Amino acid sequence: MKKLIGVLLSGRGSNFEALADSVAAGRIPNAEIAMVISNREGAPGIQRAESRGIRTRVIPSKGLEREAYDRQVVAVLHEHKVDLICLAGYMRLLSPYFVAAFPDRILNIHPSLLPSFPGLESQRQALEYGVKFAGCTVHFVDENLDAGPIVLQAVVPVEDKDTEESLSARILKEEHRIYSEAVRIVLDGKFKIEGRRVLRTN
Ligand code: GAR
Repeated sequence: MKKLIGVLLSGRGSNFEALADSVAAGRIPNAEIAMVISNREGAPGIQRAESRGIRTRVIPSKGLEREAYDRQVVAVLHEHKVDLICLAGYMRLLSPYFVAAFPDRILNIHPSLLPSFPGLESQRQALEYGVKFAGCTVHFVDENLDAGPIVLQAVVPVEDKDTEESLSARILKEEHRIYSEAVRIVLDGKFKIEGRRVLRTN
């Protein structure tokens, strides 16, 4: 049976599109994106999903207490029997309730080499700090910000002429590549988590 992926996003949705392309091309085999949920009305990612004929749902988060909101989202994900949740530019911290509902079944993509530069504007933080290597991380999600065991990372060298835009664009390319690869690994089940380490098994 196909594994069902639920994508949560708040904005542009390029990582969602990269996942959808990988599913369509068979780079993520035996999987289907069952639905895309946004907490923001008018998120471009929702239109992108609709134009691909993928089921979407906007569940506005404004004014709701964190767990009350997450209960609504979890109910929809359960209703659609989602196996794996991919956060793709989803700008909300998950409640312990949400994390406990899908143990080791929630992934996030973040545009830095964690644990460096968690939070917002990570590419700008990296440039301002002066690091020579930036990058991106796919990790399992826990209730802390941009934390959780790391599945894959990719390194992107910083060039002297880089601006926030040019560095972000090169990192984004790597995000699209490693997110699909990480989803494939996790759906395959060929890994184990020891402490904070995600180890490949065969
Ligand atoms: C991506 O760069 C993603 O790594 C980042 O938001 C962007 C969303 O772009 N996520 C975070 O910063 C999470 N802490 P997208 O909507 O085009 O995928």
